[in-house]
Amino acid sequence: MGNAQQQNSPIFAKLLKFHLQLSHVFQFVFFVIGFSLGITLCLYAKSFSFNLQANLAPSSLPVLLSQQESVLSSQPLPPPELPRPPPPDDRSQPMIIMHKMDDGELFRRASLVPRIEVFPLEHVPKIAFMFLTKGPMPLAPLWEKFFQGHEGLYSIYVHPSPSYNDSLPLNSVFYGRRIPSKPVEWGKPNMVDAMRRLLGSAVLEFTNQRFVLLSETCIPLFNFTTTYSYLINTNETYIASYDDPRKVGRGRYNPQMFPTLSISQWRKGSQWFELNRKLAIEIISDSKYYPIFQEHCSPPCYMDEHYFPTLVNILAPEENSNRSITWVDWSKSGPHPGKFGRQDVSDEFLNRISSDSFNGLVTVPYPVSILVSVSVPVLDSISVSVPVPVLKL
Ligand SMILES: *[C@@H]1O[C@H](CO)[C@@H](O)[C@H](O)[C@H]1NC(C)=O
Ligand SMILES: *[C@@H]1O[C@H](CO)[C@@H](O)[C@H](O)[C@H]1NC(C)=O
Ligand SMILES: *[C@@H]1O[C@H](CO)[C@@H](O)[C@H](O)[C@H]1NC(C)=O
Ligand SMILES: *[C@@H]1O[C@H](CO)[C@@H](O)[C@H](O)[C@H]1NC(C)=O
Repeated sequence: MGNAQQQNSPIFAKLLKFHLQLSHVFQFVFFVIGFSLGITLCLYAKSFSFNLQANLAPSSLPVLLSQQESVLSSQPLPPPELPRPPPPDDRSQPMIIMHKMDDGELFRRASLVPRIEVFPLEHVPKIAFMFLTKGPMPLAPLWEKFFQGHEGLYSIYVHPSPSYNDSLPLNSVFYGRRIPSKPVEWGKPNMVDAMRRLLGSAVLEFTNQRFVLLSETCIPLFNFTTTYSYLINTNETYIASYDDPRKVGRGRYNPQMFPTLSISQWRKGSQWFELNRKLAIEIISDSKYYPIFQEHCSPPCYMDEHYFPTLVNILAPEENSNRSITWVDWSKSGPHPGKFGRQDVSDEFLNRISSDSFNGLVTVPYPVSILVSVSVPVLDSISVSVPVPVLKL
């Protein structure tokens, strides 16, 4: 399968003619809780989200590259095939929230959506891209480019920090896609709540057939067409789920979870995932395991590293690839994955990642570097500022 993917060039190398200028790179560190033979888990910084990654796809077609980085590329952009997007409307508008449901109502409604096995032919299936963010999306210009011309094939959901109140241009793909959010803290169950909130909001739209969870530090590695057809046609789900015999894996299982949950069912994995609709609905409907985790998984057990991987292992193990959908560089030894800055991101680099068969290994994650300012000439030189990340060790 690796070979089949070789000709896929990174989206940026082929599509984007962005030349992002990273004026400054910030680094920061997260925790590692362990890594075992290649899988990743991603941890989070206090207020959240960054990275993680594992690689994706059957024998490795990383569809998305997660890691903070600046991207640059220089190939000419092919002419758009679809109608041109509406003229830019640069008026910034406060972020609007797409629905007003509180968690109780949202999860109840989401668990009641019909579990249609056969997708009605008259509708085009969509992929839901769910972004768990701190607030600003420094790499949004890349995503705008990624989605451009593919309206109707995707839905976007954003869960930023509730205190984030920046505005967005009306013509942004992220405009109006914010869902009601609550604070998220590193390693706390509220991280899982945020993930469920995104998933719950996304399953309400019945044309959403695939569900991708990402952070604001992810960038797409393949173009939309490739990503879409890959995910819509696959029979697998992409969520890292593995049995880690060590203290950082099985050691976090609490015997009090028995008999509802046994240690043989216990799994660990990274946070970013891709699920099909059936599994998404089953996860959102779970009322059996969630309370067990809430009660018995507290540090050094981190719910976001175990709840979804374990649940998927119980609900649909055979369908899962057991890998995440994001790629991370664990080739360097040490507890931190490779970081990518402006100088690192070249056509060659992106080509290497996209054809990387990666030996089936994934990794342990963490973050990285954050763009402090990005300018994108192709988009009239916008600049995006990112608050200094909170360092948490
Ligand atoms: C997307 O990428 C694939 C594989 O690299 C390529 O064949 C296709 O032409 C690209 N699509 C667009 C619209 O650029
Ligand atoms: C956004 O939040 C900041 C502080 O968090 C506040 O000073 C500002 O007035 C808020 N803006 C709006 C439009 O609510
Ligand atoms: C998915 O499963 C169907 C039916 O089993 C099969 O025809 C199809 O080739 C599979 N698709 C992939 C990408 O493996
Ligand atoms: C993923 O792991 C489950 C057990 O947890 C297993 O049943 C399944 O076959 C694995 N999937 C792959 C692609 O190896």
